[in-house]
Amino acid sequence: MDVKKLLAQMTLEEKCSMLSGQDFWHTQQIDRLGIPACMVSDGPHGLRKQDQASDHLGINESIKAVCMPAACATAASFDRRRLEQMGQRIGDSCQHEGVSVVLGPAVNMKRSPLCGRNFEYFSEDPYLAGELSAAFTQGVQSRNVGVSVKHFAANSQEHRRMSSSSNADERTLREIYFPAFETTVKKARPWTVMCSYNRINGVYASQDPWLLTKVLREEWGFDGYVVSDWGAVSDRVAGVEAGLDLEMPASGGINDNKVLQAVREGRLSEAAVDRAVERILTINYRFLENARPETPWDKEADHLFAAETAAECMVLLKNQGILPLKKEDTVAFIGEFAQKPRFQGGGSSHINCFKVTSALEAAEGLPVTYARGYRIDTDDTTDELIAQAVEAASKAGSAVVFAGLPDSYESEGYDRTHMSLPACQNRLIEAVAAANPNTVVVLHNGSPVEMPWIHRVPAVLEAYLGGQAVGLALIRVLYGEVNPSGHLPETFPKKLADNPSYLFYGGEGDRADYREGIFIGYRYYDKKDMDVLFPFGHGLSYTTFAYSNLRLSSRELTDRDTLTVTVTAENTGSRPGKTVVQLYVGDEASTAIRPVRELKGFEKVELAPGERRDVTFLLDKRAFAYWNSDLGDWHVETGMFTIEVGQSSRDIELRDRVLVTSTVKPPRHYTMDSIFMDITADPEAMAVLKPLTDQVARAMGPRPEAEAGGSAKEAISDDMTLAMLNYMPLRGVVSFGGGAVDPNHIQRLLDQINNGT
Ligand code: BGC
Repeated sequence: MDVKKLLAQMTLEEKCSMLSGQDFWHTQQIDRLGIPACMVSDGPHGLRKQDQASDHLGINESIKAVCMPAACATAASFDRRRLEQMGQRIGDSCQHEGVSVVLGPAVNMKRSPLCGRNFEYFSEDPYLAGELSAAFTQGVQSRNVGVSVKHFAANSQEHRRMSSSSNADERTLREIYFPAFETTVKKARPWTVMCSYNRINGVYASQDPWLLTKVLREEWGFDGYVVSDWGAVSDRVAGVEAGLDLEMPASGGINDNKVLQAVREGRLSEAAVDRAVERILTINYRFLENARPETPWDKEADHLFAAETAAECMVLLKNQGILPLKKEDTVAFIGEFAQKPRFQGGGSSHINCFKVTSALEAAEGLPVTYARGYRIDTDDTTDELIAQAVEAASKAGSAVVFAGLPDSYESEGYDRTHMSLPACQNRLIEAVAAANPNTVVVLHNGSPVEMPWIHRVPAVLEAYLGGQAVGLALIRVLYGEVNPSGHLPETFPKKLADNPSYLFYGGEGDRADYREGIFIGYRYYDKKDMDVLFPFGHGLSYTTFAYSNLRLSSRELTDRDTLTVTVTAENTGSRPGKTVVQLYVGDEASTAIRPVRELKGFEKVELAPGERRDVTFLLDKRAFAYWNSDLGDWHVETGMFTIEVGQSSRDIELRDRVLVTSTVKPPRHYTMDSIFMDITADPEAMAVLKPLTDQVARAMGPRPEAEAGGSAKEAISDDMTLAMLNYMPLRGVVSFGGGAVDPNHIQRLLDQINNGT
């Protein structure tokens, strides 16, 4: 379709009408020109296509579909290929159902364990989230269906989500809250981006030209359409100007009319409207011209894929020799989640599953007994239920308690207020563990929970929200058919108060100040050297792995070069399994305050017992850089960097160093108020100012006599003099120089340095 030609035939009214939805899920159609409507639908971990009554909160029924593991779980796979395959399957279901865009992936950062939507988000780490989001996007879009990477940006709380302002400095946004979007845009060219409800530093994301045009399009090269989150529009005219192309859902024509009036009155250019319409039509025709409604959607096959995926995502947090279970041993399954698993969260991502397999069902044929333990409906237990559980546990060889957060604890629309499991479940775990020392706890949750009983149980398996086939996956992992290979995409702190956002999370009224800045998740815990319950990247296995032979392609490079890092991974145990090789980079000394280490590479590798394989990582400038707000760019400060490779952020097995030299000349703005320390650290400036600084050092040097007894050498050492001089501004040379130094002379030298002449 020649979209430009089509656009030329449209009246201004028709164009304005295209700027919002026709209804809840469709773009506008224009019969006069034969422009059809296009449907978008939620996901992203399955298809939530609503046929009849529409809503964006998961309230009304949608068509029967397949619920894959949620992002909290798939992130733990650390497996790009898995996310890509999941995307392909979801893309196929969209083709089958005539859906042009699936509304996801959701890539906001897990800033606090409390965010109600954490289960929909990947990680506390922007690199991991970006890589997985890009892979998922490539998978969906390979089927000629678009994604909508959401919610752009800094939407890390549900509390007051439609009015709150996420206030963060630019460095924090660039290093933490933007990169998952940036990577998706640059690597996978998403068809659409969904802007978030919240404001950023006071400006609604839906009308922020810096966010939607400068950063997203001009810097990152985004070329699809931006859609509002459902109901995120405040000032539609400002939104069109800022780069918000499509408002969803329908505004009943009200906002479209406002845009029309604004153009007529000369407050908004028609070109801005044309731009938005052209983008919407381009994407719509990309789908329409590649629509394949004949694409089969094999839900049973997807169910099996969901089971396989869930098994890849489970994280074995603790295992003191008790797992895997033996098929011939009697095991008591305890807790209602064994029968009715919690496998997805509430809200717009809620899938209407065509079937669900519980662990109890999947254990058919095995010597498994069951006790309810607690009631999901009342979120409570009774002495009788506890007594039954204890009895079942004491009669069996081992017990598995199925615990986790009930639906009401974690959902879109509101946040948690604490990090605890329901009290009835903690009580049950304690009672069962006391009755049977071989007690395993399985967790179903989208975000960390406190584990007051951790020292009383020998094993914990984190299943996250594993999708509708979670029961199949659990049995495979618990009984060792699949070797667990998930790793935590987030830190589990010991308690909520340890989390870096604890003091400020939620904010005051509509002000949510992101005061911990770049120090979210392990970036904070590592810098503070704090004990955590389980660190970022942690995950055990039924076999063991070792890494060796760390090789760097070079010891020295510039920020324009790429460093190749190679390491050998070996399966040193007796079972086949997958290991996640994690690479972290740290700046050893920097004028910028930086984290100890940051994830810059990961690879999931499958190894047979005794097998060894080389894993290679490529590190470019970005792996070493931080966002320098003065430069308005990524910057690598010349110096030594640590390269660490390990099985978690706190299990580093190999370490080496590399010198990276910056090729960027930082702009110089020295004035008479600049201090000596800054100038002496700048070799080029020093070359010009050396005679002057020598003169000052002499004048300021140790005086021959102390003022009141003792020698000057005792009172003030050379080092102390230099240290004091460090913080003196250049103008001090004039005041302390007794008229010997001409300020005009200094200024001339400064001009020379600043102009680079
Ligand atoms: C959610 C989005 C979702 C949209 C449509 C909003 O409430 O924030 O994630 O895609 O509704 O259902």
